[in-house]
Amino acid sequence: MPQELRAVDWTGNSLALIDQTVLPQRTETIEVRDVDALVSAIRRLVVRGAPAIGAAGAYGVALALLQGEREGWSTAEVRAAVARIRTARPTAVNLMVCVDRVMTRFDEGLAAVLEEAAAVQREDVEANRAMGAYGADWLLKRVGVDRPLRVLTHCNTGALATAGWGTALGVIRELHARGCLELVYADETRPLLQGSRLTAWELAQEGIRHRVQVDGAAAGTILRGEVDAAIVGADRVAANGDTANKVGTVGIALACAYAGIPFVVAAPTTTVDLATASGADIHIELRGEDEVLEWGGVRTAPADSRGHNPAFDVTPGELVTGLVTERGVLAVAEGELPGERLR
Ligand code: MRU
Repeated sequence: MPQELRAVDWTGNSLALIDQTVLPQRTETIEVRDVDALVSAIRRLVVRGAPAIGAAGAYGVALALLQGEREGWSTAEVRAAVARIRTARPTAVNLMVCVDRVMTRFDEGLAAVLEEAAAVQREDVEANRAMGAYGADWLLKRVGVDRPLRVLTHCNTGALATAGWGTALGVIRELHARGCLELVYADETRPLLQGSRLTAWELAQEGIRHRVQVDGAAAGTILRGEVDAAIVGADRVAANGDTANKVGTVGIALACAYAGIPFVVAAPTTTVDLATASGADIHIELRGEDEVLEWGGVRTAPADSRGHNPAFDVTPGELVTGLVTERGVLAVAEGELPGERLR
């Protein structure tokens, strides 16, 4: 029986977040009681992954209301605090979508806000379960081999990155549950190692066979024929299917296209941004240079070197063989565009 993790949990008057910066060495939960602490937790990746920051942002509206009550804020001040949460990170559209959804109940007060935030959380788990089934069915049919699959994934898209179960990792868990999974290649995911620290931890908890590999190994592993399909998550999918996901993803997609294997994106419709026409319009978060110039707080690059640290890249829709959502699978590369099919 898989352990059900809750990366984001409402305690009644605060948010409990599993601290993803210290996993897997330590499993710690931090309690967030105010808006500054939540914004900082989102920026530092204590909570991370598009749907998980969406859920945290949803409950963040309740936190802002409670803090406003404690500290005597005006309604305008509470709204300004919510706006800071909404923009804590720029790329994953879930954060904005979930905050905006909960804000539609803002004038009804705390109970309504909490009800809406709980619905965001519940519906994300339901969407993940649905994606698991759709994605596994589609992959098994598409790959069409008479043996368990070998899949490659990048970053962390599991229970930690969502309200529960996972997107791409949810599909992988479903394949495993059906006895249709041989091996997972988990890219370590530079520079913050969401793959080797978090994905490998989740896979190990489930007893799923996996190998952690450096990001630079991915293309070679694919071209050697050792992978049947790559499956990743997304931070924002544009109307034309262009997909922003953790930096390094586009190289995997290119390798899959060259090798002729499916490149699959699993993302709930809360990640699909029909208001964004193409990937060129997606704001890609640039993070601090130290994340690439240092290792474990110790400088590794020469003192004069500068870093370049985009957190995400954009994979063109033409390379997305399948986009799995809770509403089914779109063959984006064959012209089934989110902007036409998900309106
Ligand atoms: O910087 P992160 O760790 O928040 O990046 C996360 C990713 O890129 C995930 O692949 C994406 O958010 C999907 S999570 C289900």
